[in-house]
Amino acid sequence: MAKNIMHYDTVSLDDENSALVIIDQTQLPGNVEMLSLTEQKDIWEAIYLLKVRGAPAIGVAAAIGVYLAAKNIKAKDYPTFYEEFKAAKDYLATSRPTAVNLFWALDRMENVVKANKELPVDEIVKLLHDEAVEIREEDIRVCRAIGEYGLTLIKDGDGILTHCNAGQLATVKYGTALAPIHLGVERGMNFKVFTDETRPLLQGIRLSSFELHSNGVDTTVICDNMASQVMKNGWVQAVFVGCDRVAANGDVCNKIGTSGVAILAKHYGIPFYVCGPTSTIDMSIAHGDDIPIEVRPDHEVTEMWYSKRMAPEGVKVYNPAFDVSDNSLVTAIITEFGIARAPYDKSLKEIFAKKEAASKK
Ligand code: MRU
Repeated sequence: MAKNIMHYDTVSLDDENSALVIIDQTQLPGNVEMLSLTEQKDIWEAIYLLKVRGAPAIGVAAAIGVYLAAKNIKAKDYPTFYEEFKAAKDYLATSRPTAVNLFWALDRMENVVKANKELPVDEIVKLLHDEAVEIREEDIRVCRAIGEYGLTLIKDGDGILTHCNAGQLATVKYGTALAPIHLGVERGMNFKVFTDETRPLLQGIRLSSFELHSNGVDTTVICDNMASQVMKNGWVQAVFVGCDRVAANGDVCNKIGTSGVAILAKHYGIPFYVCGPTSTIDMSIAHGDDIPIEVRPDHEVTEMWYSKRMAPEGVKVYNPAFDVSDNSLVTAIITEFGIARAPYDKSLKEIFAKKEAASKK
């Protein structure tokens, strides 16, 4: 019997071989292939090409990546070390623009360097190792906490619709939007999950349905344009999605197509839940309109996955990778510090106050 994908590490550090180890998600579900990446350009490309993807997993990969870059720096004087570290950080930061976890994790790593400038470079590198490992470990704890809060919102037997993949494959363990389902399964609960195909890169059909089915969950794949019908049939009691960046007012940026699902959920009176760690909430951005939206190459729409090109040569293509769901469509935002509800400008501040208080304990 095939090994459950939940038993693989999505993203980890092989310190002995100075490598970032990931599941190559572009090969799923057909091949479970692990990649061991040692070169910065390969780590950059793995993020850009979505070999490792999902906001939290991108953050962890970048933290490990920049640690590996620091480990390779020959300079022993702080100014040269910092300059080379900063160049490596800035390079990885250009791999994708939308998921704020990439910048959050890289900034955390830079803060370690800046806060310890009086130490010998070798010591700083050790601290960078510890920070990368902590960012990875923290992700597991955070996702489990999100799962626990999410589980309070659903009951055994519920139908759940999800978009893209915000599961274990998008994090270190459990996922965000799929964490309540995985935790429920651990406790013997059953859900009926509908996974949107998620055009154009097919994270729903290739990754979410694979992850859920592999873990024994009753999973039904639907094309993106079928969500309305499934909701109308009364088969969906809740929508659970992840997020790439949440603005301070609760506007949610997630995989393209999410806002359509949110609008449908509102129409049918179905709760629309967004699950995300506080590392995905960007309190420096007031409004969803200010979130940078990645636009990806045309061929992902016109030919990728098809045996031959499906669009006439020369036709224009628009391929935004993310969209923003207005906060009025969001029933709740589920974080590791609790469940935020409207008005989000107030409730998200309360979540961060809880985070601040927990960091002082
Ligand atoms: O382009 P992707 O596959 O990286 O987009 C992923 C998503 O949109 C996820 O929903 C989001 O990152 C949350 S993952 C826990």
